[in-house]
Amino acid sequence: MAVSTLKIAVDDGSTNVKVSWIENNQLKTVVSPNSFRKDWKSAALRKDKKVYNYEIGSTKYTYDATSDKALETTHVDYQYDNLNLLAVHHALLQTGIDPQPVTLVVTLPITEFYNSEDCQRNEAKIEKKRQNLMRDIRLNKGELFKIVDVEVMPESLPAVMSTLMNSNCNEFTRSLVVDCGGTTLDMGIVVGEFDDVSAVYGNNEIGVSMVTAAARKALAAADSDSSYLVANELIKRRHDLSFVKEVVNDEEQIDIILHKINTKIDELGAAVAYEAKKFAKNPNRVYLVGGGASLIFPAIMQAYETLGDRVVLINDAQSALARELCMYHSDLEGAVEVAAETLVEVDDE
Ligand SMILES: Nc1ncnc2c1ncn2[C@@H]1O[C@H](COP(=O)(O)OP(=O)(O)OP(=O)(O)O)[C@@H](O)[C@H]1O
Ligand SMILES: [Mg+2]
Repeated sequence: MAVSTLKIAVDDGSTNVKVSWIENNQLKTVVSPNSFRKDWKSAALRKDKKVYNYEIGSTKYTYDATSDKALETTHVDYQYDNLNLLAVHHALLQTGIDPQPVTLVVTLPITEFYNSEDCQRNEAKIEKKRQNLMRDIRLNKGELFKIVDVEVMPESLPAVMSTLMNSNCNEFTRSLVVDCGGTTLDMGIVVGEFDDVSAVYGNNEIGVSMVTAAARKALAAADSDSSYLVANELIKRRHDLSFVKEVVNDEEQIDIILHKINTKIDELGAAVAYEAKKFAKNPNRVYLVGGGASLIFPAIMQAYETLGDRVVLINDAQSALARELCMYHSDLEGAVEVAAETLVEVDDE
């Protein structure tokens, strides 16, 4: 039965769910931000604006892109709770595919996926995540996908699969993969073309949310309370003055807000560069993935100055993992098995 169900790759990160699937031989991707609050919304005034009111058990939730009461998803427990179930279903609805039974390939942070003591798959956590996603959930006045099976993959490393395969590396090449996401910094060292994974690292305290929190604080001080989503958009579009003006109510505060954001971006870059150098002093290549990749790129280039253009910012870094999981899923299983057998170090801070 499961053979005929549609398979969709879902990198369900703590701040954004990235969904990739194949449609008419084309790889499609959507990024669905997590911004939910409790209770329901009333019907939209505009017919083209859809309202998403959900119910899990007896708890009501709604998707609310701009609410300043959006529920926090930037903690590790999010991987196993109501909000994750909600975020994945909501993201599936953004694909435009008709709701139907689906098999999902989802992700867990590398330090959740592997036991820190012996570097083996943490089957308990993997199962917990699977079960969480197969729970009941209801959409008011609408139909949801039925998640019939769930496979769980580790985050980060698989994101550079095709880049590595096309990079003419030899079996001794050591590639450092740095994944700077919303909440976590994950790193790993891949040997050759995924012949081996020699070490992994995870840090739940370093992520773009450091910058987001600073942006929200600065916005609030300028009478412009904002959701995570709006603050993130501001970080991305900080060089677009007309957008900045739309978000900041008190225009006199614009310079101060941008300065605070830039300072935090520099801090994030410095923190990631410091951890990266500590973890991998002399890799042969460095690949940057995750939504924060472009923010930390300058700092990482500087930290590994001698590598020059061997420090690579992966295209569409935020959705790279979902795309790779979708494209190479069958090949990947082999690669991940190798990873599971050969991990030598997990540093969970
Ligand atoms: N081009 C960009 N420039 C700046 N920030 C970006 C860009 N693209 C995405 N982001 C930010 O990156 C963050 C999300 O990155 P990503 O989707 O990799 O995180 P995540 O997978 O949800 O988090 P985690 O992996 O920690 O669970 C958000 O804060 C988002 O606003
Ligand atoms: Mg992520």
